Amino acid sequence: MHPIDLSLLPSTTRLNGKGSLDVGGVDLLTIAQDFGTPVFVYDVAHLTQNLTRARDIFGDGVAYATKAFLCKSLARLAYESGMSLDVSTAGEYHVARAAGVPASKLVLHGNNKTRQELERAITEGVQWIVLDSFDDINLAADVAAGLRRQAQVLIRVNPGVEVHTHSFLATGNRESKFGFPLWTGDAQAAVDKVRETEWLDFLGLHIHVGSLVFAIGTFLEALDSVLDFVLAIDPEVFVVGGGLGVRYLGTDAAPSLEEWGEAILKRCREAGVRARVLAEPGRSIVAATAVTLYTVGSVSTKDRTTYVAVDGGMSDNPRPLLYDSGYEIFMPRAPEAVRDRAVTVVGRHCESGDTLVRDGMLPSSVAIGDIVCTPVTGAYGYSMASNYNMMPRPAVVWVDQGKATVVVRRETLDDLLACDLG
Ligand code: LLP
Repeated sequence: MHPIDLSLLPSTTRLNGKGSLDVGGVDLLTIAQDFGTPVFVYDVAHLTQNLTRARDIFGDGVAYATKAFLCKSLARLAYESGMSLDVSTAGEYHVARAAGVPASKLVLHGNNKTRQELERAITEGVQWIVLDSFDDINLAADVAAGLRRQAQVLIRVNPGVEVHTHSFLATGNRESKFGFPLWTGDAQAAVDKVRETEWLDFLGLHIHVGSLVFAIGTFLEALDSVLDFVLAIDPEVFVVGGGLGVRYLGTDAAPSLEEWGEAILKRCREAGVRARVLAEPGRSIVAATAVTLYTVGSVSTKDRTTYVAVDGGMSDNPRPLLYDSGYEIFMPRAPEAVRDRAVTVVGRHCESGDTLVRDGMLPSSVAIGDIVCTPVTGAYGYSMASNYNMMPRPAVVWVDQGKATVVVRRETLDDLLACDLG
């Protein structure tokens, strides 16, 4: 198997004079040494590039989907890059506000919003609220009336189409819990209801048909299934959601943000949509901008399988377990080495599903104490991390122009007791 395909790594990745790799001008091995492992390493230049690209493609109002990865530094960077932020819980909202993002740049999502979430969003004046059910409309109307404040809202439409992705990640099919079904007439009824409701301002429509979708044609088909409705409603704003897939493996291919955005904008324009067309990308902004570093604790061959056990696992990356997702792995001390040893990379959790890389290849020199690296872990890695087996969550390190900064510190054992009242 070839050496790691460096195009999977963050954009500032370079081979350095010591035979290892720099990201953001900092040697990955130095980061592991200085900050410990497991550690998420984010390339600030790459992040800034991606945020700015999304903003340039769609313009003002386009939102970064914070569920993919959120911390205060990222919220600030997204805001400073001209993006709005899509938040779907009080927690995401709180982190974004703590970072100094004005409420007017937040979009509130969620299929089961609480009164408290709506109260804060409406009081502080969010960009808009995306409503998901008739109960959601009623609650938002009640909260807005109680506060005597207008709330700008979008209606989430479920087009009822099959989208080619993992079944857990499809959200625009007829079985989905999200949005108002278009085919039953509920989407139209929801728009009518909002238009009649005092204190709610109908601003537009929203769709999000799924995540990790690789074919532009799939997005266009989903779009086509709602265009007649969008034309009939003629909203001010039409949000097409996120969902663009990214390359996880050297053999994957994915459209660029530009190819995706321009195809959608073109289709909407050609159909005669007059609305401002916006999006909410998450994964395609952050996934490739980060890597995770681990330390190898054991290399053991059991029957026919060589297990490389590292100091993290399903608690910092549950995606292989949840979605059968594949990742590449390599050793930063030998990035150009041929990976000639078939390995299964596992974590240190107490179950057999705790696999990080199922059909991995590493150089046969891999040994205890080596640092190994999985690229493309910037989305839905740290954000889905857990404390399973009472594992402290890893640190998040930002690298930029030769400088490494911890932006989220590693949890301590005492953090694990912070909520435990005995
Ligand atoms: N907008 C809405 C309403 C969403 O529900 C999502 C993702 C996005 C935007 C952003 O989608 P993206 O561009 O990131 O695909 N945990 C899964 C992904 C779940 C996606 C949930 N919603 C994973 O690790 O693959």
